[in-house]
Amino acid sequence: MKIKIRLAAAIVIVVLPAAVLQAGWFGDKKADVKIDPFAAAHAEETVKLKAAPGAHAPVAEGACSKCHASPKEPGKMVLEGRELCLSCHKNRAADLAKKTVHMPFKEMDCTACHQPHGSVNRALLNAPVNELCSTCHSLGDENIKKSHGGISVIKTECTSCHTPHGSANPKLISEAAQHAPFEARSCDTCHDSPGPDGKAALKETPEKTCFVCHSDLQKSGRKAVVHPPFSGGQCVACHDPHIRRLPGQLKKPPVELCLGCHDAALKDNHPVAGHPTSKKGKMDPRRKDWPFDCVSCHEPHSGPLPNLTREDQMTMCEGCHKQ
Ligand code: HEC
Ligand code: HEC
Ligand code: HEC
Ligand code: HEC
Ligand code: HEC
Ligand code: HEC
Ligand code: HEC
Ligand code: HEC
Ligand code: HEC
Ligand code: HEC
Ligand code: HEC
Repeated sequence: MKIKIRLAAAIVIVVLPAAVLQAGWFGDKKADVKIDPFAAAHAEETVKLKAAPGAHAPVAEGACSKCHASPKEPGKMVLEGRELCLSCHKNRAADLAKKTVHMPFKEMDCTACHQPHGSVNRALLNAPVNELCSTCHSLGDENIKKSHGGISVIKTECTSCHTPHGSANPKLISEAAQHAPFEARSCDTCHDSPGPDGKAALKETPEKTCFVCHSDLQKSGRKAVVHPPFSGGQCVACHDPHIRRLPGQLKKPPVELCLGCHDAALKDNHPVAGHPTSKKGKMDPRRKDWPFDCVSCHEPHSGPLPNLTREDQMTMCEGCHKQ
């Protein structure tokens, strides 16, 4: 008898709090997500919004009430306008303190450019980047044309050179380091003068563009083994000609870059199975500032040895694995 009573009490003790949590009486976060009152009242809309491609993280969780204050008033938010967005995106507030702040970022709601629920475009954008920027900026404007050296930017993502919110540089130019001739705004170092349609062909060969300043690299083409994209003058297959976002001014991190043309099987099974070229945080033992990657063992341009290895295969391993 005694045992039964204890058992019953235990059941009450265990079951009741669980039920309370389920109902969210204590405002428990997990319970809120499960039975979000706004989602419950707008069930049909919730199903649609959650399933849409590019759903905003809190929408995908069904956590409508993180933004909506009341199920009865869909237009009422827990915070107004930009404050709502900045309450979660705190690091974006730092952009407001930068030297150049984009006028709509400073003065308007974030929804001038972003969708609150989801978007088929990257970063919840209202439209693909260039279309979005062009809704407010006319690319035919004389100031804009002059700034771009007369070169048409219509087909090049505006954000490959500009940041959308704020920057330490004038004219919202990206905060990453700029390639010296781009920083000097001498577009005509590499581009022919643009025609009336704004198309600016490149001065055709690296001899006429890159080697003018990087003359030491010209000798590289005379070594025993030359990497075909280097001898073929495809410098921009690997390098960004304008902005230096990554070391070496590369377009992508080396492993990604190399595997864009080479067999993906080289990633970890090469030259020994399990060699950690794809693991984050492993540094090149010989270059403390460079991650361990393809370039740790291979020259990217040219070299005296087969397979462009940095040293003879007989001694290469010892270079990093001291016996
Ligand atoms: C990140 C914040 C945020 C979240 C999360 C969110 N919403 Fe919204 N929602 C907004 C904003 C902002 C508006 C006002 C949009 C406008 O003015 O264009 C809005 C408007 C609405 C409206 C009114 C639309 C109209 O045309 O008047 C409905 C309905 C709605 N949301 C449903 C939902 C549902 C359902 C969820 C959860 C699945 C949800 N929202 C989650 C921010 C959010
Ligand atoms: C309740 C917290 C919350 C609120 C409020 C919120 N967000 Fe987000 N947002 C997130 C989370 C979480 C992510 C996903 C992680 C990340 O990218 O930071 C995200 C991602 C984003 C992204 C990047 C999406 C991508 O695909 O790269 C944008 C843009 C964004 N939010 C804009 C907004 C805007 C605009 C508002 C205001 C209408 C807003 N957010 C309000 C939590 C929030
Ligand atoms: C003038 C248009 C514009 C306005 C206004 C704007 N954004 Fe953005 N935002 C962008 C663009 C464009 C990107 C994508 C950048 C890229 O991918 O190159 C972006 C990216 C983001 C991202 C994801 C990438 C990142 O930088 O973390 C977040 C989060 C974000 N915006 C939040 C906000 C918030 C919060 C506000 C309002 C305070 C806001 N944005 C206002 C244009 C805008
Ligand atoms: C909602 C309208 C709107 C959108 C969308 C918009 N801009 Fe702007 N932008 C402005 C306004 C307004 C100014 C300030 C007046 C001016 O210089 O035209 C401005 C200024 C600028 C400036 C000059 C900043 C300075 O310091 O003089 C640049 C560069 C710029 N925008 C680039 C962009 C890019 C890139 C995009 C797309 C990611 C974009 N804008 C989207 C309205 C917009
Ligand atoms: C190849 C890099 C590049 C691309 C791509 C690019 N811009 Fe620019 N933009 C610049 C440079 C460089 C300046 C001049 C900066 C300076 O004066 O320091 C500039 C200046 C501007 C200005 C300021 C004009 C003024 O009043 O002086 C606006 C607005 C602008 N760009 C908008 C855009 C838009 C919109 C796009 C996309 C359709 C775009 N840019 C694409 C490099 C670029
Ligand atoms: C160091 C040489 C160099 C300088 C300086 C330079 N560019 Fe470029 N630019 C290139 C190369 C190389 C490409 C081709 C990139 C590619 O194909 O990926 C290019 C591509 C472009 C494109 C894209 C063209 C297209 O058809 O997609 C635009 C726009 C552009 N540059 C604008 C500018 C502007 C504006 C300046 C001056 C502020 C400038 N560039 C300075 C080398 C340069
Ligand atoms: C007008 C002279 C000039 C021209 C032309 C030029 N560069 Fe540069 N480049 C420089 C200078 C100066 C630096 C900065 C060197 C430094 O940071 O030590 C640099 C840096 C670089 C770097 C980064 C080096 C590093 O160590 O991170 C790369 C990659 C590069 N340039 C590639 C190119 C390519 C590709 C072209 C042709 C499309 C080119 N450059 C044309 C002057 C030029
Ligand atoms: C297959 C990719 C690839 C191609 C193609 C390529 N590079 Fe590089 N380049 C790299 C990598 C990776 C580095 C960084 C090497 C390092 O620091 O170990 C580099 C470094 C550089 C540097 C800085 C260091 C140095 O050696 O002076 C310059 C300048 C440079 N490249 C210019 C060029 C030029 C000019 C061309 C075209 C003739 C070119 N690159 C073609 C991948 C490439
Ligand atoms: C630990 C040093 C090391 C690393 C890291 C490394 N390689 Fe190699 N790689 C070699 C050696 C040694 C050879 C010659 C192997 C042979 O002849 O069997 C070689 C050969 C090659 C070859 C020519 C032979 C073939 O299999 O096609 C290519 C292409 C290549 N590597 C690409 C890459 C790429 C891409 C990466 C980065 C994902 C990479 N390597 C990382 C040492 C390395
Ligand atoms: C734009 C395409 C492209 C990129 C990017 C590229 N390669 Fe290559 N690579 C080639 C071509 C083409 C060959 C010659 C055909 C072959 O051997 O597959 C080659 C050959 C090689 C060889 C064999 C050289 C020999 O003849 O002995 C090695 C090793 C190599 N690449 C390594 C790399 C590394 C490391 C990277 C990244 C830094 C890289 N590649 C990026 C196109 C590329
Ligand atoms: C550029 C430097 C470098 C060279 C050259 C190099 N390795 Fe490595 N190797 C590494 C690094 C870094 C690790 C990861 C060590 C760790 O886990 O901390 C590693 C790990 C290994 C492992 C363990 C892989 C595992 O299962 O975790 C083996 C086996 C190995 N290397 C063999 C070789 C052989 C054989 C050669 C010569 C063909 C060689 N390495 C050349 C840098 C190098």
